[in-house]
Amino acid sequence: MQFYIMTLFPDMVMNGLSTSITGRAMEKELLQIEAVNIRDYAFNKHNSVDDYPYGGGAGMLMQAEPVFQAYSAIKEKAGRTPRVVYMSPQGRTFDQEMAEEFAKEEELVLLCGHYEGIDERVLEEIVTDYVSIGDYVLTGGELPAMVVVDTVSRLVPGVLHNDVSAEFDSFQDSLLEYPQYSRPEIWHGKQVPPVLLSGHHANVEKWRREQSVIRTARNRPDLLEKAELDEKEKELARAILGSEYKDHIL
Ligand code: ADE
Repeated sequence: MQFYIMTLFPDMVMNGLSTSITGRAMEKELLQIEAVNIRDYAFNKHNSVDDYPYGGGAGMLMQAEPVFQAYSAIKEKAGRTPRVVYMSPQGRTFDQEMAEEFAKEEELVLLCGHYEGIDERVLEEIVTDYVSIGDYVLTGGELPAMVVVDTVSRLVPGVLHNDVSAEFDSFQDSLLEYPQYSRPEIWHGKQVPPVLLSGHHANVEKWRREQSVIRTARNRPDLLEKAELDEKEKELARAILGSEYKDHIL
């Protein structure tokens, strides 16, 4: 999969994404990640890409033309009109479902704003999706773009070593992941749950599923609305849920 990240801080995104799993996937050519420096498309002699907002107000805005020129270069390279995701706190909140949808694309353009934002007219022309990573305001769209690239990348076949692991993650089933343990068997006086040492595969699976239900009921009861639970699992969840959720969700 090919990602283009339109940014004023290409080093920031490339340094982060060239590390660890996404970095290895780039080396294996499962992912292509290109940071496109919007400043390279500045059209004045000072190389500036920002200006004052009409109507006054605090801060500066990124101008339409450099953003449009950077986009046009990407479009030309891709040979078609790509999906363009503008990272903004005003967007739809990013989640696993959206990541799965993005993972179906052959290429994805992520547009990172800075200063007080970007001239609305270029957004109207090029942006297909407005995406927020949560209800808080960051200094720019780079970290959000990295969050999206990382999340989508691990859904690309071959990026994770173990192809089953993306399937069993938190949220895949609208349930949180069960707790995991590795050696030693006893650490700080704490014993690994005996069922995990039993070698009884079906019992292990049953225990893990129960733990997922318990964790979700405790930590993210809102997720249970989408989870498919059998009667026994619902009973387990009900025993944990406060009354405000019990009637409403299960
Ligand atoms: N830019 C600044 N804050 C953001 C957020 N929460 N999500 C996406 N882009 C942003």
